[in-house]
Amino acid sequence: MTIGKTAFHLAKRLIPAPVWNFLASDVRTRRNRRWAGEEATRNMQSAAAASLPPNHGFAIRRSAAEAIEGMLSPFSMAVIDCLLSLQAEEKTGGNILEMGVFRGRSAALLGQWLGPGERMLLVNIADHLDRKAIEPVRDVVDYFVQSTVEFSKMAATLASNFRFIHIDASHEYRATFSELEMADRLLAARGIIAMDDFANLNYAQNIAAIFKYLHTTGTGLRLFLVTNEKAYLCRKEDWNFYAGFVLKRFAPEMISRGVADIHIARTDADPEFAAFYGREREPGEEGHFYGPAIYGKFFVEP
Ligand SMILES: C[S@@+](CC[C@H](N)C(=O)[O-])C[C@H]1O[C@@H](n2cnc3c(N)ncnc32)[C@H](O)[C@@H]1O
Repeated sequence: MTIGKTAFHLAKRLIPAPVWNFLASDVRTRRNRRWAGEEATRNMQSAAAASLPPNHGFAIRRSAAEAIEGMLSPFSMAVIDCLLSLQAEEKTGGNILEMGVFRGRSAALLGQWLGPGERMLLVNIADHLDRKAIEPVRDVVDYFVQSTVEFSKMAATLASNFRFIHIDASHEYRATFSELEMADRLLAARGIIAMDDFANLNYAQNIAAIFKYLHTTGTGLRLFLVTNEKAYLCRKEDWNFYAGFVLKRFAPEMISRGVADIHIARTDADPEFAAFYGREREPGEEGHFYGPAIYGKFFVEP
């Protein structure tokens, strides 16, 4: 036995157990923090360094969507396009559903990601749809001119095979709760639910309904990304996959879609809530990660 090991065992025998346990856990915590710090630095550096060429496919998809009147911003178009592109890369199949279509701007983007055999269901309380939005995919689109409450009766017969569901209808409290409940049931494996106006406090009831659903129903849904416009949810078993994408690939993917000043924040990693926040950089900020000196420890594998 070496002198070091002998001293270790002697110290362990002489120091009272509660004090020993405290010291040992302190050493472990500091060592884990150091490892987390190294991993975070590696993640931030590799995300910043991974540069992708400009995404010409997105430029075409974006201009098709922008030709339609609507509310979807270039930032949200880029986020949704990143996520649908990831699903395509992973061969995640399934239908697409949108509740709240208006003239069809977001539908015009979503429709361009439909794969063979997939359908897109659109629901809007009144017919405002600009048919140009769905022209290229009209044979695989089902358009329901009805409220989401009416639609939910028919939706009860549908299978859980929707891989992307966009909720952008009334934003009323009870309606949002029921729309999320319906989306939860219809969501396919590896599916994503996007909730519009998540951070728009003109619709404060929207966020209240979302958190009530997440925390009172026992749902397996978790938020993995929030933006100033939308919240993105997936099932807890897919959380590492999507949160890992945001951590490692979201910045270069957004930059390749023209959002050069993408900034990602994560200031807690609690098991109950550890979503990332994606936004554009604010004046005085640098890089692609928020407050690395203080919060760098949270930029680690989810
Ligand atoms: C904000 S707009 C949708 C914008 C669209 N997603 C876009 O990106 O351009 C909301 C739409 O929801 C529709 N709507 C409002 N309440 C609804 C309800 N209860 N059921 C279905 N659609 C509803 C409105 O008619 C309106 O067209």
